Amino acid sequence: MIKKIRKAVFPVGGLGTRFLPATKAMPKEMLPVVDKPLIQYAVEEAREAGIEHFIFVTGHGKTAIEDHFDANPNLEKLLMNDGKWQLLEFLRNSTLESGKISYTRQSEPKGLGHAVWCARDLIGDEPFAVLLPDDIFHCKTACLKQLVDAYNEVGGNVVAINDVPLEQTNRYGVLSVEKDDGRLIKANGMVEKPDPSAAPSTCAISGRYVLSPEVLKELDNQKAGVKGEIQLTDAMAATLDRVPFHGVRFEGRRFDCGNKIGFLMANIEYALDRDDLKDEFKASLQEFIKTL
Ligand code: G1P
Repeated sequence: MIKKIRKAVFPVGGLGTRFLPATKAMPKEMLPVVDKPLIQYAVEEAREAGIEHFIFVTGHGKTAIEDHFDANPNLEKLLMNDGKWQLLEFLRNSTLESGKISYTRQSEPKGLGHAVWCARDLIGDEPFAVLLPDDIFHCKTACLKQLVDAYNEVGGNVVAINDVPLEQTNRYGVLSVEKDDGRLIKANGMVEKPDPSAAPSTCAISGRYVLSPEVLKELDNQKAGVKGEIQLTDAMAATLDRVPFHGVRFEGRRFDCGNKIGFLMANIEYALDRDDLKDEFKASLQEFIKTL
């Protein structure tokens, strides 16, 4: 039986050293793309996919994330008094309902698999989603929704897939492909950050997952992999004998906002998609490009 995906895990414990000094006193997940923090893109995507409970795995210096998703009655009152209804709506959209949001801590930086494992009691014995907020996906249908739709067809573990240049396989988890129909890829193996010379394909796992609770059982073993970290990819691979595994070539565009170029490109793409900004921004960009 296919169980509904109700819960999503957001690993937000990472330090964000690549964005120093911006992230000296601010979580990297709060960096804004246009005017919305990265983490809110992931939360809104999860909502669109039908997620009901939001689980954050945090660490030191991340309390701004908790405040961000909490109500702010003083600010609401102020906006109401000033008749700023649209801003009020934005504010309310960024508030998650009490009881529908949980926080737990990853007390040691032991890798992505470990971060997900830290949420095991909050997840319980049911399938769940994982969203890595560094990756944002500009899609007509939310990327996680595309994964959930595929999961409803095939069950098991389902991940988002990007085709990457061969020389980049050492940045990703990479699938060994059994069958590929263009949208759905059935995998019979996977490896974390393989050297291009050893990569089984160029189908790279992007930061969205729908996972069976069997993966949590594998994470209980706490086995370290590449870079001495507990890898989510290894735990998923260890369930291949009993859980079907599929990748989805999602429709849309992924931005790796964990790196500066990806982050800057995301700002351009999302600004050009905004009715209130696109005309003026496009004209300014076109003028600017002439000067290059
Ligand atoms: C993590 C995963 C990797 C995945 C990537 C996607 O790596 O371990 O399998 O391909 O996210 O962004 P990280 O980027 O944390 O090194």
